[in-house]
Amino acid sequence: MEPLMASSRFVFFLSPILLLISSQSLAQPEFPSHSCFYEKGNYTTGSTYRTNLNTLLFSLSSPSNNGNGYGFYNSSFGENADQVHAIALCRGDVRTDTCRGCLSNSTQKLTQVCPNQKEAIGFYDECMLRYANRSIYGAMETAPVFPLWWNINNLSSSDVDGFFQEMRKLLKEIIGQAAANGSLRKFAVGNTTAPNLQPIYGLAQCTPDLAEQACSECLDSAMGNIPTYCERKQGCRVSNPSCTVRYEVNRFYDPTTVVPVPSSPPPLSSPHLLKK
Ligand SMILES: *[C@@H]1O[C@H](CO)[C@@H](O)[C@H](O)[C@H]1NC(C)=O
Ligand SMILES: *[C@@H]1O[C@H](CO)[C@@H](O)[C@H](O)[C@H]1NC(C)=O
Ligand SMILES: *[C@@H]1O[C@H](CO)[C@@H](O)[C@H](O)[C@H]1NC(C)=O
Ligand SMILES: *[C@@H]1O[C@H](CO)[C@@H](O)[C@H](O)[C@H]1NC(C)=O
Ligand SMILES: *[C@@H]1O[C@H](CO)[C@@H](O)[C@H](O)[C@H]1NC(C)=O
Ligand SMILES: *[C@@H]1O[C@H](CO)[C@@H](O)[C@H](O)[C@H]1NC(C)=O
Ligand SMILES: *[C@@H]1O[C@H](CO)[C@@H](O)[C@H](O)[C@H]1NC(C)=O
Repeated sequence: MEPLMASSRFVFFLSPILLLISSQSLAQPEFPSHSCFYEKGNYTTGSTYRTNLNTLLFSLSSPSNNGNGYGFYNSSFGENADQVHAIALCRGDVRTDTCRGCLSNSTQKLTQVCPNQKEAIGFYDECMLRYANRSIYGAMETAPVFPLWWNINNLSSSDVDGFFQEMRKLLKEIIGQAAANGSLRKFAVGNTTAPNLQPIYGLAQCTPDLAEQACSECLDSAMGNIPTYCERKQGCRVSNPSCTVRYEVNRFYDPTTVVPVPSSPPPLSSPHLLKK
């Protein structure tokens, strides 16, 4: 609570013009997609749940929190009925500082667009944030489905079948790779060329708390949603709380910024023992 109170006291002394400028420059971008789960419970403004949520989100996006070092954040705060659980995941190629900026935007935006919901989820291009009053770590959830589009152009009808066939082949391949990746990051990208010579770039990613089998099932499920949401589209992303598949005709990721994971982490040692 302290930082919020401090900032509202500060704002009190600003002139209206400065206030306008500062509120504009502080505004976070809208989520391309989000959901507030009204049916899963509401909290009130002064509640312990709200305080715990603030504390949790503040620590999640703090500059000293590096998550698991590979864009995955998992934490809980509070006791019993007021315990809050959060998970955040950055796209596998997103740099640490961009990831942190995205999480900082998400933590502020999600409580703003879902002001009273105990459970909520929000997606930006570079990251996803969700929180709930139930444990969400390690649970595969393929619903609800969040389709996202950045390129609204259609493929010409003569190109659709060939394009979709190549796209599916590509996604199948990278789904296998992403699922087989280790427990630090489950992410794979790849490209191919459609019969009409259009390049196709694909991405598959799970939250890395999922086991290989669960990740693979999740990505298959997301891919199963493609016909429903991506009909004729040149680019499309299908996300759910646990995973994402995406294809585009332009390269939307940067393979050079994917931080390599240790090739064979010692199987039975706990994460803190790896740090020297
Ligand atoms: C979450 O909150 C809802 C509504 O308040 C409640 O019914 C549910 O039991 C809570 N879940 C947990 C795991 O505490
Ligand atoms: C939460 O509040 C919304 C209205 O904002 C209401 O429709 C919904 O039923 C409430 N949920 C619960 C579980 O009480
Ligand atoms: C993630 O959070 C859950 C709930 O607090 C905890 O049980 C689990 O150990 C955490 N996992 C990691 C890898 O931090
Ligand atoms: C976060 O929001 C700021 C605007 O407040 C914007 O300039 C920045 O690009 C956003 N960062 C990310 C990673 O979305
Ligand atoms: C793409 O096709 C759909 C119908 O399949 C149409 O509704 C939509 O307007 C088209 N979009 C563009 C950008 O042409
Ligand atoms: C892990 O992911 C990378 C992409 O980041 C991919 O190239 C690699 O083949 C994957 N590893 C396995 C074992 O599938
Ligand atoms: C396409 O993928 C190959 C590896 O399969 C890679 O060498 C190449 O750089 C990629 N092309 C682009 C434009 O990303």
